[in-house]
Amino acid sequence: MEPKDLIKHAIKAQGNSQSEYSNYPVGCALLTNDGEVVYGCNIESAVYPSTLCAERVAIYSALSKGLKKFKAIAIVSNTAARPCGSCRQIMHEYLGNIPIYVSDSNGKEYKLHYIDELLPYPFDLKNS
Ligand code: THU
Repeated sequence: MEPKDLIKHAIKAQGNSQSEYSNYPVGCALLTNDGEVVYGCNIESAVYPSTLCAERVAIYSALSKGLKKFKAIAIVSNTAARPCGSCRQIMHEYLGNIPIYVSDSNGKEYKLHYIDELLPYPFDLKNS
């Protein structure tokens, strides 16, 4: 699948965002090795710390479906923001060094990143 097509999925996922407190919708699409696309969107709560980011919703959803091998991930927000620190840690632990496409909601241009660049010296129980 081309990056732009995965980004289109992330734009669709952004449409499902539950972000009434921040008004900052985020969408995520995670492509598995088998070609399945798993969606995530940010889900906010009146108990603010219970909010979960789009990236982690997608990753946890995929893992809970038994999907463990991933090819690429696309993240869409209105400002083409790169993932937060907590999501970077989870991406490091579960995704491996796959392409991370970051786009705004138009999906016309995207930034390409890899987790070893976004999260150098990650926390790891085995290697310090
Ligand atoms: N958010 C994400 O979904 N992903 C990130 O990587 C950073 C922030 C969400 C959390 C919250 O619902 C909103 O964006 C504003 O912080």
